[in-house]
Amino acid sequence: MSLDALDKIRQQFDFAPFPAVPLEEFPRDDLNLLYMHSLVAPYYQQHRAVPDTAGQLILDAGCGSGYKSLLLAAANPGATVIGVDISAESVELSRQRLRYHGFETAEFHAIGIEEVPSLGLEFDYINCDETLYLLPDPQAGLTMLQAVLKPGGIVRGNLHNRYQRRNYYQAQALFGLLGLMDDNPQDMEIDLVLETMQALKPETFLRSLTWQSIYLEKPKSVLVDYLLLGDKGFAVPDMFAMLREAGLEFVSMVNACQWHLEDLFHTPQQLPEVWTRYVARLSVEQRLHAYELINPAYRLLDFWCAKPGRSPAHSFNLRQEKTWPNVTVHLHPLLRRPQVKAALIACCEQRQPFDFGDFLSYSSGRSVLMLSELAACLLPLWEAPQSVGAIAQRYCTLNPVHPQTLEPIDPAAAQAIVQQLLLTLEQYMYVLFDITE
Ligand SMILES: C[S@@+](CC[C@H](N)C(=O)[O-])C[C@H]1O[C@@H](n2cnc3c(N)ncnc32)[C@H](O)[C@@H]1O
Repeated sequence: MSLDALDKIRQQFDFAPFPAVPLEEFPRDDLNLLYMHSLVAPYYQQHRAVPDTAGQLILDAGCGSGYKSLLLAAANPGATVIGVDISAESVELSRQRLRYHGFETAEFHAIGIEEVPSLGLEFDYINCDETLYLLPDPQAGLTMLQAVLKPGGIVRGNLHNRYQRRNYYQAQALFGLLGLMDDNPQDMEIDLVLETMQALKPETFLRSLTWQSIYLEKPKSVLVDYLLLGDKGFAVPDMFAMLREAGLEFVSMVNACQWHLEDLFHTPQQLPEVWTRYVARLSVEQRLHAYELINPAYRLLDFWCAKPGRSPAHSFNLRQEKTWPNVTVHLHPLLRRPQVKAALIACCEQRQPFDFGDFLSYSSGRSVLMLSELAACLLPLWEAPQSVGAIAQRYCTLNPVHPQTLEPIDPAAAQAIVQQLLLTLEQYMYVLFDITE
């Protein structure tokens, strides 16, 4: 990595550590934010098992001002967070932030990602958020992270989306042409950008496609869009090529529920038939690429990946009845909090439907309403994981007779209702299965 390029990036983040979030801010009840920083969902998708985060080692690679390190510590109870960043100012802020919130075991080092092997550690989870796309060689950076990942470990990384961000790259080329990115851009360069953008006619492409009032409210935000040194854009095929080269396997997009190709069409019936047949043959990579070509809506290609090797639990087939007695049901650890339980009890008492999406919507993207008589079966999950049989038994106790015939409820029918509910909830990661042979 060229020293000059690294130095410029270091100076930029020493001048404006990112993100500029006040030290006291701690969204401990924002389950969507915590979900993105929790190891549980990607680990479950890769290994179909619920990880115990206590004692795990998490690397926050390019930790910035430590706001994400704080979220990592909060989302993964008992884990130790180690943050690294080339900006000493950012590292100092991270240290202060984690100490302020009582995470005494967190450690921070003012070193580059390329120096992480010198720590002599291997990590269960590596978070490299908003950083890869700044590295002069993102491929080398990802390969470096792979080298310090434990077998079975997970990496979260993200890249700027070339299609979504194309207008900013055009703006960066313009301001580069004017010399504003030759050195570390600071207040003077920010002012020049603000003046230029405001002086442009509103109908010019650059202004109409990039200008937002936030730049006047928070001038330093100009740095992360118009003047971001080292900023590079990527498409889905680049992301997959990078993973292959680094010896990593794609697990899923972090915001997976927002990448469904089908959601881009009015209704499935209106799809041209040739399209339906074509899409059925597409790989995961091709589907995601087709999505971004139609709708490059997200700034980030935000992904989880892992060292190759899925656990045998993936081959268990839940369509086979014989698998169900071996399933233990867990509530997603983020949902196992008193306020979620209290809300569920209140819905049951008032005979109102219940929706986990009121607390955690990032994994589903839609509301998943449950009738209160079904939701009530899940209450023991706040105490401990349950067998499917125990949940079905509770359903029979709560709903002893068939609503139409008033005959005693058939246990097999209750079991089928509960299985269907659990499959839906598992799809959105509200519950997780542990399956033994
Ligand atoms: C946009 S900030 C992201 C901070 C944080 N991860 C977040 O998402 O809030 C990028 C950070 O990466 C750091 N960085 C850039 N190149 C780096 C490198 N080679 N090694 C370590 N940190 C680096 C910068 O100093 C900066 O703090």
